[in-house]
Amino acid sequence: MSSDLQEQAKRHLWMHFTRMGAYEDSEVPVIVRGDGCYVYDEHGKRYLDGLSALYCVNIGHGRAELGQAAARQAQELGFYTNWSYAHPRSIELAARIAALAPGNLNRVFFTSGGSEAVESAWKLAKSYHAVRGEPTRHKLISRHLAYHGTSMGALTATGVPALRTPFEPLTPGGHHVPNTNSYRWSEDRDPLWAADAIEEAILFEGPSTVAAVILEPVQNSGGCFVPQDGYFQRVREICDRHGVLLISDEVICAWGRLGHWFGCERFDYRPDMITMAKGLTSAYAPLGAVLAGDHIAEPFLHGTETFTHGFTFGGHPMACAVALANIDVMEREDLCGHVRANELRFREMLESLRDLPIVGDVRGAGYFQAIELVKDRDSKLTFDHEESELLLRGFLSGELFSRGLICRTDDRGDPVVQLSPPLIAGEEQFAEIESILRPVLSEAWKRIGRWSSQ
Ligand SMILES: Cc1ncc(COP(=O)(O)O)c(C=O)c1O
Repeated sequence: MSSDLQEQAKRHLWMHFTRMGAYEDSEVPVIVRGDGCYVYDEHGKRYLDGLSALYCVNIGHGRAELGQAAARQAQELGFYTNWSYAHPRSIELAARIAALAPGNLNRVFFTSGGSEAVESAWKLAKSYHAVRGEPTRHKLISRHLAYHGTSMGALTATGVPALRTPFEPLTPGGHHVPNTNSYRWSEDRDPLWAADAIEEAILFEGPSTVAAVILEPVQNSGGCFVPQDGYFQRVREICDRHGVLLISDEVICAWGRLGHWFGCERFDYRPDMITMAKGLTSAYAPLGAVLAGDHIAEPFLHGTETFTHGFTFGGHPMACAVALANIDVMEREDLCGHVRANELRFREMLESLRDLPIVGDVRGAGYFQAIELVKDRDSKLTFDHEESELLLRGFLSGELFSRGLICRTDDRGDPVVQLSPPLIAGEEQFAEIESILRPVLSEAWKRIGRWSSQ
């Protein structure tokens, strides 16, 4: 059975974002089962899922009730669309999301995932401006290094050169501004410098051409960049001043990841739209959404105005049933409260690793934290491409995995180790993470010493 899976995976499966050549002489990691914070591979080996698969299995693995909700839905109505028709689960879920959302965010446009949500939010921003008589507003401002997905529109918002360049030319209208990573900012820099850079960009592009700004509450790519105090309030003012919409991309940060239903609640700002996916169903089924303010939906509610956009599977009944069951679990177990009550302990454990010379920075919020690795802590010197390759792909990712910890080692920006455990994680898992990270990071430091002396 196992060897069949290996053979078939190598022969037929096209893995995403994967150097498949790396598996020519080694096994594809095949995860076959999950339970709580843990998953098991085909050999029965257990791993602590410190990444919630891909920042998405928020309620943890093995929750049969989500599958049961899907099975009941399949029996009742396996599929119907949200194109011209509606079905009970998409209606109920839209109402449930609106009830949990802050402010006037009351209208839900379903998609099948995060890229589609980002793509839809950008198109909705353009359509909204057009129906209100400003058809030239089409541009989207996003931040350097941010990841907003891979479809051509979402990729335009994505600010990671290595992901964008191979697919140029992208959708016209993308513009990038600095992110909020203050680790290497000089101390006298105005803390709201990155917020003000958004206004500069809007003025440079011409406000009448700019449709929206899209930002994550905590930016994933680059390693959990948190906003400065007042950042989002300043951005909101800038957007209002120039008639630009603010999209909060919460594909990771919604559904409890930051200890709140929505990431914008953590930093107390009101976006015009929220994009979401992943944790909406805890990834037990593919589903995404754009949650829009009443003022965004209003122009489309009368006469012949139509948002001419949709996806066959957006708001699939089985996925909506799973999302409803997921929210039931989150409410019953107060998982947002659990994150708020335990995030400090999680952070303290990571902070305790600062005695290791390779640990340059620890940052993040809620159950979404990163450690930046450096070559020299005093000067904050980072690794060059070759060193980063040796460190992350040549050692860390394989070593952490072989010792039973799944986390993300990433160098889309400077090298980081990222942790984003299921929201049910607690003291036991934090201790286990430390017991693996500490020796592996110590060994990484020794290896760096050896590489530099060679
Ligand atoms: C902030 C953000 N936006 C969009 C996406 C794209 O989502 P998907 O992979 O579901 O298309 C991601 C995926 O990680 C994300 O983190």
